Amino acid sequence: MPVRLTRRDFTKIGGAFGLSAPSLDASAQAATAPSKEVASRRAEREFPEGFLWGTATSAYQVEGAVNEDGRGLSIWDTFARTPGRIVGNANAAVANDHYHRSRDDIALMRSLGVSTYRFSIAWPRVFPQGRGAPHPKGLDFYERLVDELLANEVAPYATLYHWDLPQALQDAGGWENRETANAFADYAGYVAARLSDRVKHIFTMNEMASFVELGYGQAIFAPGLKLPPGRLNQLRHNALLGHGLAVQAIRAKAHPGTKVGLAENITVCVPVIETAEHIAAAERATRELNAGYLTAILEGAYTPAYLAWAGADAPRFTPDEMKTIASPLDFVGVNVYAPHHYVRACTAAPGFASVPLSSSYPHMASSWLKVGPEALYWAPRHVASIWDVKTIYITENGCSAADAPDRDGNVYDTDRVMFLRNYLMQLQRATSEGVPVRGYFLWSLMDNFEWADGYSNRFGLHYVDYATQRRTPKLSAAFYKEVIAENAVV
Ligand code: FCB
Repeated sequence: MPVRLTRRDFTKIGGAFGLSAPSLDASAQAATAPSKEVASRRAEREFPEGFLWGTATSAYQVEGAVNEDGRGLSIWDTFARTPGRIVGNANAAVANDHYHRSRDDIALMRSLGVSTYRFSIAWPRVFPQGRGAPHPKGLDFYERLVDELLANEVAPYATLYHWDLPQALQDAGGWENRETANAFADYAGYVAARLSDRVKHIFTMNEMASFVELGYGQAIFAPGLKLPPGRLNQLRHNALLGHGLAVQAIRAKAHPGTKVGLAENITVCVPVIETAEHIAAAERATRELNAGYLTAILEGAYTPAYLAWAGADAPRFTPDEMKTIASPLDFVGVNVYAPHHYVRACTAAPGFASVPLSSSYPHMASSWLKVGPEALYWAPRHVASIWDVKTIYITENGCSAADAPDRDGNVYDTDRVMFLRNYLMQLQRATSEGVPVRGYFLWSLMDNFEWADGYSNRFGLHYVDYATQRRTPKLSAAFYKEVIAENAVV
């Protein structure tokens, strides 16, 4: 019969066996030096010197303060107001109230020991109507945030578009309208000119594939549309163009030394078995299954298979546009959560076959979040091997879990620790083989508004009690703190 042990029981029993309960105090230091054996085991799990450890959030998911300092409406405000779109009909009008609590939240980062933080800037704060005159107060919050981060030795990595399109632009067609790409470039150039004396790393967009497919193809995300294939393909092209134009605007307006890239959730293809033929097939698959996004950006062309698939619905484009889309990048960020396909070699075209995930394949609290740690090895390895990218960041990785405070007030998210430990082992495998991953941003610093799932899914290292806005470090925060301190999987 299964016996449920409480933390108090554990302490008692553990004490009897000479064990002690894990310290959840993120500021606690290891009391004793590791034994030789432990030290050498750790050496095998180490990350390269100077590896950057960080956390990530995005504006709409944490800021709240949606009506303050002249912020305009975003498509997510509108979407969240529409009954039935978000679990519990929740919205992010308050969210984590980070707009008023950023100092405290930076203190949480400091306590973890992170050296970087990835956040996003709300376009409708800066240009309430998407374009035209910037709001004089639009960047004030981010100026303060960046200064406070730097004062705490946390390097700011800023994303310009994490899905909160100004509603006024959506009213004019959103990403279907090529003008949105131009407006995005203007906004990008403006922010770069103002912040790049302190923000040295800028991401144009977060997960194009998500906001295009889920927002405009499947109506799961804002603005909640289901466009027919031809219009969707053109919109995808316009989003790519927006990215490329923004890269150019940032280069034109930013202070010297500013690095530019993007954060994309590539479709991750894992070889079914690690043999040369299946690995080659997984590379082919990764290139083809990302043809509408990263492949186009890094190659400056749509693959013949992509154009054939689109057929009469293929996007209209000019060679000049493809050149813009492929504007050189300083780094590529990949958001990695789950393996999307297991792939095997196949002699027939296209040279790979996707193997369906078994119905018993495990997942975390979100059913889409399949547990496949090797995705964190293969995603950056493919990006490096297919496109010879020299600087890669893992811009998001983490998981949802059914977190709840225990009777003693602590949150024992042992499943998240399991998840992170296994994924990080695979990332360590990649860096130890020379895959050029320079940093890792854990999603997320704290629980927050999880898009269409509202507050029903928690991804944070800190538990947020939304009624009081109290943040409590979970077991995973203590784990991550150790990883950072050791620069190794612990
Ligand atoms: C990613 C998003 C991020 C967050 C995580 C869980 O797709 O970029 O905002 O919602 O998923």
